[in-house]
Amino acid sequence: MSKKILILPGDGIGPEIVAQARKVLDVLIADGLDVTISEAPLGGAAYDQYGAPYPEFTQNLARAADAILLGAVGGPQYDTLDRPLRPERGLLAIRKDLNLFANLRPAILYPELANASTLKAEVVSGLDILIVRELTGDIYFGQPRGIRVNANGEREGFNTMLYAESEIRRIAHVAFQAAQKRGKKLCSVDKANVLETTEFWKEIFTEVAKEYPDVELSHMYVDNAAMQLVRRPKQFDVMVTGNIFGDILSDQASMLTGSIGMLPSASLDQNNKGLYEPSHGSAPDIAGKDLANPLATILSLAMMLRYSFNDETAALRVENAVKAVLAKGLRTADIYEEGTEKVSCSAMGDAVVAAL
Ligand code: NAI
Ligand code: MG
Repeated sequence: MSKKILILPGDGIGPEIVAQARKVLDVLIADGLDVTISEAPLGGAAYDQYGAPYPEFTQNLARAADAILLGAVGGPQYDTLDRPLRPERGLLAIRKDLNLFANLRPAILYPELANASTLKAEVVSGLDILIVRELTGDIYFGQPRGIRVNANGEREGFNTMLYAESEIRRIAHVAFQAAQKRGKKLCSVDKANVLETTEFWKEIFTEVAKEYPDVELSHMYVDNAAMQLVRRPKQFDVMVTGNIFGDILSDQASMLTGSIGMLPSASLDQNNKGLYEPSHGSAPDIAGKDLANPLATILSLAMMLRYSFNDETAALRVENAVKAVLAKGLRTADIYEEGTEKVSCSAMGDAVVAAL
């Protein structure tokens, strides 16, 4: 049966960048990829049309889809709305509704863009790591939490770091399977020397590792991991960690590559149903000008092919087309440097299609 893809263009540059990914998808479909495509609004676009950022129309299609491609949501025209109506709430709502607990953020630095990083080119050139962040648990959600007056009459703030065994197991399986599809090395990041929650995390990962004998599991304390990420980032293949450590480490890793327009992401559920989107926002400052870099969105589509459709061949085909376009010297404004050729968003999409 054909797989169902739902496209959510969203706001700002969303429709422009998603249109380029759609061109790529159309080539794959013409070559035999068996998918059907539907489209729905999310965020501000959904508010404009239905009065809510994640309306029932979108929800029904999202629940029925096998994979979702999102542009980005948000814009200054929505900043005065009540919080529950804001575009960003639509994004939080869809992630929660679909139980997308596994956030995959690759940090890849194509050799042609080595100068975009703030780190020395030899440290980061050719960098290709994947951070897997648990997204629905940990100290961000643990109860009890709050601000209270303690027995001494002093005010105190408190949160609870909490992971159920089932939550650790399911993210472990996603991480091991992601490592199997890549360099077969998995580094689990914890603070097991101080925090019981992460000591437990480490214990479960060691147990799950027995089911993946082809993957080499290592453990690293989070403070050391932060240091190693800037010292020698290429030592890593896949890193996996909880929500709070992953929040910090994934942002740190993404900036090794220096260019937000190049960074895809995936958020997966237990059955590898996923929401795929660029890591950047809706860039209202350049929206409607055909200036945006569509490559993060096109690379998000490649992740969809890999993780939701298990089609490594098609994923590599798309990624290689992106590499070919960069090797040819084509650059959107955000990654332009002297000696390269500046192209528009749609021209970049056309170039990727040609390279396919
Ligand atoms: P942003 O990521 O939209 O933009 C930051 C800067 O990067 C801007 O100068 C923008 O022009 C540039 N940029 C972003 N994507 C680009 C691309 N593909 N090509 C070239 N340049 C690009 O973040 P900002 O400005 O903080 O937020 C703008 C809006 O996006 C806000 O409403 C915010 O809430 C929303 N947002 C949405 C996200 C999502 O949908 N996942 C994530 C982050 C922000
Ligand atoms: Mg963050």
